[in-house]
Amino acid sequence: MEGTQNRFIPGLEGVVASQTRLSHIDGKAGELYIGGFALEELAPNATFEEVVYLLQHDTLPNAGQLERFGRSLTPFRMIPSATTDLLARLAPHKVSVMDALRMGVDTLSVSSEGADAERDRRDAQIVLGGGPTIVASYWRMREGLDPVPPRDDLSHVGNYLYMLSGEDPGSARIRGMETYFNTVVDHGLNASTFTARVITSTQSDLISAVVGAIGALKGPLHGGAPGPALDMVYEIGTPEAAETYLRAKLDRGDRLMGFGHRVYKVRDPRADVLSDAAETMYRADGDLQLYDLARHVEKTAIALLEEYKPGRNLQTNVEYYTALLLHGLGFPVELFTPTFAVARTAGWLAHCFEQRAAARLIRPSSEYIGVVDRRWVPLTDRN
Ligand SMILES: CC(C)(COP(=O)(O)OP(=O)(O)OC[C@H]1O[C@@H](n2cnc3c(N)ncnc32)[C@H](O)[C@@H]1OP(=O)(O)O)[C@@H](O)C(=O)NCCC(=O)NCCS
Repeated sequence: MEGTQNRFIPGLEGVVASQTRLSHIDGKAGELYIGGFALEELAPNATFEEVVYLLQHDTLPNAGQLERFGRSLTPFRMIPSATTDLLARLAPHKVSVMDALRMGVDTLSVSSEGADAERDRRDAQIVLGGGPTIVASYWRMREGLDPVPPRDDLSHVGNYLYMLSGEDPGSARIRGMETYFNTVVDHGLNASTFTARVITSTQSDLISAVVGAIGALKGPLHGGAPGPALDMVYEIGTPEAAETYLRAKLDRGDRLMGFGHRVYKVRDPRADVLSDAAETMYRADGDLQLYDLARHVEKTAIALLEEYKPGRNLQTNVEYYTALLLHGLGFPVELFTPTFAVARTAGWLAHCFEQRAAARLIRPSSEYIGVVDRRWVPLTDRN
């Protein structure tokens, strides 16, 4: 053992590794607070800029502060030509959007060495502004389309939607997406956030912290797979088919995608917020068929999970309605996780700022389980 009081805790479960004022999860009560606000209150009402400001300044901005804050970010929507060139080279190889985002963010700045408050502030603007442009530009390149240059008269989220489609997104779509961004912006000390904090704690720069966090989010155990949840609803197809389909899955020992959570043992509060946003979206489009089917599948799944796994309290999680909402916004499955990353970047950065203030290198211990009695054997004498 390296330290004196060490006990190996696989996955660091239950270990309190940082203090934060950014978000608070009560898994038993099914509550999530962002910057002190209940998610249900903040997410559907705030603009994303307001939430980013709240995370960075621990207070909501007034009108003047919000206007200045929004304006300070727009110049960074333009990405360097080196980044665009890189994306253009990746597109013919159909590199995944998450990998393109990881590599693209890395090229946004080359002068980000060391810790300095002014440099941190600028790096945060660079990544917040440039991330959506990388995802949207690269996606269009992969689809054989020209990238759409950013507009500075649109909000952060409005501009992201615009750069993806080249069309004015309209206020209902912007509101739906803004609610999604606000809902997933931060969620305690998850793996990618922890990664960003570890990198920041070494006094490395914020670009490096976000690149590392994207790498962590990319893994299927974290970035999640809302895609399979959507596939499941599509495969079921009609309300009448739900029970037979779900029973067959559970009989086979399969997991139902979009249900269950490590922390929440009641309904994930993010699922409610996103379900409401999705309903508004589908209602505005005049077609509630998929939404109604998803609600029916959800109800049937929860009842069956209680039957098959009694007492486990397996409830709907964030992925289920993320899939429905993003699909309703016209997003292809491959953009689900990159869009999550673009929203979560604001949370990562706020954690980086907190970690800077904490000014403490994160350096846990390990438990040595190897041997200590080996003797050196020259290469020529080895079998
Ligand atoms: C999210 C998840 C990994 C959490 O897992 P966890 O807290 O570690 O739960 P456990 O793996 O301890 O599972 C507890 C029991 O419930 C079952 N279970 C958990 N989620 C289930 C699901 N979605 N469908 C069916 N059974 C499930 C497990 O098989 C296990 O049963 P057992 O005790 O008979 O073996 C898990 O619920 C899951 O795989 N869900 C589906 C994938 C998903 O939606 N992921 C996105 C998460 S945001």
